[in-house]
Amino acid sequence: MNEQVETNRKLWNELTEAHLKGSEVYPIEDFKNGKNILNDIEIEEVGNVKNKKLLHLQCHFGMDTLCWARLGAKVTGVDMSDNAILAARKLAKEVNIPATFIRENVLNFSGKINEKFDIVFASYGALYWISDIKKWCKVASSYLNKNGFLYIVDGHPFYHWLNRDETETDLSKYEYSYFDRTAQKYENATDYADESFISEMTEYGWHFTVGDLINASIEAGLNINFFNEFPSFKIKKYGNAWRPIGENVNFPVMFSMKATKNEY
Ligand SMILES: C[S@@+](CC[C@H](N)C(=O)[O-])C[C@H]1O[C@@H](n2cnc3c(N)ncnc32)[C@H](O)[C@@H]1O
Repeated sequence: MNEQVETNRKLWNELTEAHLKGSEVYPIEDFKNGKNILNDIEIEEVGNVKNKKLLHLQCHFGMDTLCWARLGAKVTGVDMSDNAILAARKLAKEVNIPATFIRENVLNFSGKINEKFDIVFASYGALYWISDIKKWCKVASSYLNKNGFLYIVDGHPFYHWLNRDETETDLSKYEYSYFDRTAQKYENATDYADESFISEMTEYGWHFTVGDLINASIEAGLNINFFNEFPSFKIKKYGNAWRPIGENVNFPVMFSMKATKNEY
């Protein structure tokens, strides 16, 4: 792993420990009591998963992965955080759901397992951590069966761009470029699940444009079925997401995309 990814891995080991305490974003007790904590949007847009093989990229500690299993999918999750994967395996045992969890950097995951999937899934807060969106899409595509599909629901690139400066509300003074793909370095990382949490660790994130993702998907041999944009996070998670230029200004903060493998 390169230094930036290694830094992020350490941060995610720390954040996982914080998330395992449970919160509104991570309602672990509800999940253990049988609640499906996926959001309506991904349940509706992914559709029936019964008996489908689903690969969850950046599965964190596996709660969403295991919810897909509760809906009938045969699930595999991948994440580079040691603590997240250990916790995911433990959680699967505790709720008695069969699942496979693999610790790996997604960008190095190509060819690591000899299996194909009907669905590759990634969600909320996945792509920001990825330095090479083309490679990420190729990895996703490499694990798809013919007619299998990639589904992503995540923060919109426009929102991520505006979110780089939470204090500037005057766009004429706004300094960052939507087209800046260089690594963003932040000291003292924060946590979306707990506003009071401030880490001593550094984080690296990357920006991609809408075109970057669409072109990377096409290059990876995928047909775009839809690319939906949403003016708010229509979900309970991240419900208080920052709205930099006022409540009444509509701009995309979330997107979802489905793209089907067209060649094999
Ligand atoms: C914001 S969390 C995903 C949250 C997930 N959607 C959920 O709600 O549980 C991001 C996850 O990506 C993982 N991650 C970041 N970069 C990665 C990489 N290069 N390879 C694999 N996992 C990575 C982190 O360890 C973390 O678990």
